[in-house]
Amino acid sequence: MAKIAQVSVLKLAFFVTLSSFVSLSLAQKTLSRHCLENPPTPNSTYGAGLVKDIGGLKAYVSGHTRSRLAILLVSDVYGYQAPHLRYVHFSTPNHREEHAPNPSTLITLLDYVIYCDKFSVVVVDIADKVARAGFYAVVPDFFFGDPYVVNSSRTIPEWLKIHGTDKGFEDAKTVIAALRKEGMHAVGAAGFCWGGKVIVQIANTDFTKATVLLHPSWVTLDDIKAVKVPMSILAAELDNGTPPELLKQFEEALTANKVNNFIKIFPKVKHGWTVRYNETDIPTVKAANEAHKDLLDWLSKYLRKY
Ligand SMILES: *[C@@H]1O[C@H](CO)[C@@H](O)[C@H](O)[C@H]1NC(C)=O
Ligand SMILES: *[C@@H]1O[C@H](CO)[C@@H](O)[C@H](O)[C@H]1NC(C)=O
Ligand SMILES: *[C@@H]1O[C@H](CO)[C@@H](O)[C@H](O)[C@H]1NC(C)=O
Repeated sequence: MAKIAQVSVLKLAFFVTLSSFVSLSLAQKTLSRHCLENPPTPNSTYGAGLVKDIGGLKAYVSGHTRSRLAILLVSDVYGYQAPHLRYVHFSTPNHREEHAPNPSTLITLLDYVIYCDKFSVVVVDIADKVARAGFYAVVPDFFFGDPYVVNSSRTIPEWLKIHGTDKGFEDAKTVIAALRKEGMHAVGAAGFCWGGKVIVQIANTDFTKATVLLHPSWVTLDDIKAVKVPMSILAAELDNGTPPELLKQFEEALTANKVNNFIKIFPKVKHGWTVRYNETDIPTVKAANEAHKDLLDWLSKYLRKY
């Protein structure tokens, strides 16, 4: 095994100034042109966790129920078997595989690290990262075994007719209710792309304590005006569906409604990058890690009170 050094993530200047953009009307109906890029290969056995039934949905779960704090992760159209949404991934420019460092030494919230040496960057992917931070991570199969498959005979609009975000919203409430019944004191929720639209609806209920949208799709200003719980939006600079000028409006609306918010635009990355980053593109991998840390920091801030 290669020697793995521990290097603190540089606080890169990820914040892009939001200003002076002319408003785009109804750009929010657009699906990002990057939405279907770099599709994952679904893998049913990937990850440190296991798949169980929660409220009638299959869900990948990771971490301990005894933490009493759950984080619901709502996938993009590629569903809950996407490896980057689940487990440790080792990104190396030369595709070298390593074993995971001992989980107990890996991630703490206060001292977030990526493990890297000259040749490799190790990324612990989202659900297991959440679990290692002490939460019970839950990634449900909102598509009931039927995620979108690129280049299949079905187009995205056809697929969306069956797998609409409104249905996802209803199912997400069912899952959260089941988690509460299992003894969870509080639930935070984050959604990616398709899942972002689900989460923005959850955010105007009292089902969760805090929410995160990651490069969300189809979210409108009206959706945002209805949000009641703290919300972070982690967005890509390159996203024609949810562009920076729309995010500025989101931020103003949340602030005007006195909803705690944290909006961040990651420069030079494309919509989808937090789950569908190019594994050999190290700056993008680092930006994905930064977003995962922001997700955890935001939800922890609100969940740790319970
Ligand atoms: C799925 O993940 C397992 C590890 O859990 C791995 O051994 C297997 O090769 C993966 N399958 C595919 C198709 O990537
Ligand atoms: C889907 O088809 C397009 C056009 O034929 C091609 O460029 C792309 O690589 C294909 N994607 C996958 C994942 O097969
Ligand atoms: C991934 O990133 C590498 C390095 O930046 C680049 O050479 C490669 O073309 C990228 N692959 C895709 C599929 O974009």
